[in-house]
Amino acid sequence: MNHLRTRAVHAGQAPDPAHGAIATPIHQTTAFGYGTLEHGAAIFAGKAPGYRYSRFANPTVHALEAKMADLEGAPAALALSSGTAATSAIVLGLLKPGDDIVFLGPLYGGTENLFRSLAGRFGIRAIDASEQGLTASLTANTRMVWVEPLTNPSLHLHDLSQVAALCKARGIISVADSTFCTPCLTRPLEHGIDLVMHSMTKYLGGHGDATGGLVAGAAALVSAIRQTGLGQVGGNLAPQEAFLFLRGIKTLPLRMAAHCEGALAVARFLASHPAVSATHYPGLNEHPQHALAQRQMQGGYGGMVSFELSVGTRAQAAAVLDRLTLFTQAVSLGDVDSLACHPASTTHSFISPEARAKNGVGEGLIRLSVGIEHPNDLIADLAQALSCLLLSSG
Ligand SMILES: Cc1ncc(COP(=O)(O)O)c(C=O)c1O
Repeated sequence: MNHLRTRAVHAGQAPDPAHGAIATPIHQTTAFGYGTLEHGAAIFAGKAPGYRYSRFANPTVHALEAKMADLEGAPAALALSSGTAATSAIVLGLLKPGDDIVFLGPLYGGTENLFRSLAGRFGIRAIDASEQGLTASLTANTRMVWVEPLTNPSLHLHDLSQVAALCKARGIISVADSTFCTPCLTRPLEHGIDLVMHSMTKYLGGHGDATGGLVAGAAALVSAIRQTGLGQVGGNLAPQEAFLFLRGIKTLPLRMAAHCEGALAVARFLASHPAVSATHYPGLNEHPQHALAQRQMQGGYGGMVSFELSVGTRAQAAAVLDRLTLFTQAVSLGDVDSLACHPASTTHSFISPEARAKNGVGEGLIRLSVGIEHPNDLIADLAQALSCLLLSSG
């Protein structure tokens, strides 16, 4: 099998048979002509190959699905209009009233909100395993376990092989939201996880210009999710967006290498800075789960870094963030451009101060999505922004 870097360029894509176009054409069409009644009937019955209607399948979107299935080592993949659409399709496609979904909190806020709303609306109970641990949280009705291998913004790791083994022994479907890791750093299916999910909006697209989601895993599971997510919910990805993701993924391994190199340099700088009391990055030797990160992540530790200011007030965080010039203040992540945010007042502003404190989201916490700029320039930008704290305390 070719290296991931080669597959990122070629998998799912071959020159277009019509005209030889190397870039996969954007098949901007709603419906596909099937010629004769009998051929149409055969396509609808699944007895003949062919496309019928873009909400169900589209050649540009299909090329993206084939590329991502290859990179994740999955038999099948499904692209959707956002990471959130992927999450909803998994839950609605595979769970029924009376089932429990157990999650290793804290999750991305939108995911956790959806899970917590399921009980009242659909009779599906969501249980946060962060209190009791995973084994103690599993019930006779647990049908699905949801994990983020690398959490936001605390950059804590979960052991995927352990989660997968527990689930396999009980016939529970395990799902990993691998948005922060991408197939370059962690491939959850290789650890025994049943389904991997992505917000492609982040690293897979990489340029901050398209929203999309992806699910990959066994064909039967993906097919059930496809039926619900596209057939019933209509969360299909547009062909224009699929084109952008196909293009973005070609450079994913190169970009991830630059993100990882920059983030490690930035984390080392922050860890030694007198105005910073804690730096969270799994690539640092002092990260409490560095050994697990070495086992579970390959080729680097990702582009996300968070850090706490010694004087953890909102005013101090604002003083630093408002002085940054290369880091743009924004909540997304995974772009080639560096981004910075204050989780307590943005991504985590909707949860209670107590819950924020429990998850380590204080007023002095800053989250960085390290882009692909030269690490020395990013460090210089952080140094000049942090120097205001040294002056004010000195
Ligand atoms: C880990 C994670 N999962 C899922 C999502 C949701 O993805 P989207 O914004 O594409 O719907 C996000 C968005 O920030 C995320 O960070």
